[in-house]
Amino acid sequence: MGIYVLGVAGASGAPYTVRVLRGLIEAGHGVHAVISDAGRRVMDLELDVKLYGEPIHDREELLHAAGVSGPGELTVYAIDDYAAAIASGSFHTDGMAVVPCSVGTLGRIAAGLGSNLLERAADVTLKERRRLLLVPREMPLSLIHLRNMVSLTEAGAEILPPAPGFYQRPETVQDIVDSVAARVLDRLGVEASFLKRWAGPEED
Ligand SMILES: Cc1cc2nc3c(=O)[nH]c(=O)nc-3n(C[C@H](O)[C@H](O)[C@H](O)COP(=O)(O)O)c2cc1C
Repeated sequence: MGIYVLGVAGASGAPYTVRVLRGLIEAGHGVHAVISDAGRRVMDLELDVKLYGEPIHDREELLHAAGVSGPGELTVYAIDDYAAAIASGSFHTDGMAVVPCSVGTLGRIAAGLGSNLLERAADVTLKERRRLLLVPREMPLSLIHLRNMVSLTEAGAEILPPAPGFYQRPETVQDIVDSVAARVLDRLGVEASFLKRWAGPEED
């Protein structure tokens, strides 16, 4: 099974985080997660998920929020744990997704700053030429945000704005969340049973 890094920054979109996490764990993958301080704040505000930056506690809380316990494994790191496995390119992973990605984290990854473990892991993913997906959420976007996205795309990252389509007629908020999360998993190369692939309009 694969090993994936899941970064969580402080943009709106905590429901996407837990849906992607659930998809990875249900598919039996190893997940190495790192959450920024602002990411923890947004998790609380959007989902009442209380993360304290303490890996053992946060691991349990995240699995509970995602409603999953296996068969995959979740490891959570503190945001300043530069000795973590995912801080080194010699630790093999199958890719990383930052879900959601704040425009601040996006800019710092684009600049190669590595000023916390999330940014360092993203930098490692790029330098090792592994798949890096960023799900940035901001509205509207400034020229700085757009230029950073161009830089990251040139460096090999993929930008996946959480922009759901409505042609599959979502009926609930969860349907919309699922459609975004399924696309993220699909681009990571992870089988998502809940991805609805468009096969043209249904005949009446
Ligand atoms: C409830 C809430 C929602 C936020 N939504 C966004 C957002 O959608 N996009 C964004 O870039 N920043 C958003 N922010 C601001 C970021 O959290 C802030 O810029 C923070 O410094 C980002 O830190 P990080 O990149 O280390 O996670 C939000 C903050 C809060 C508290």
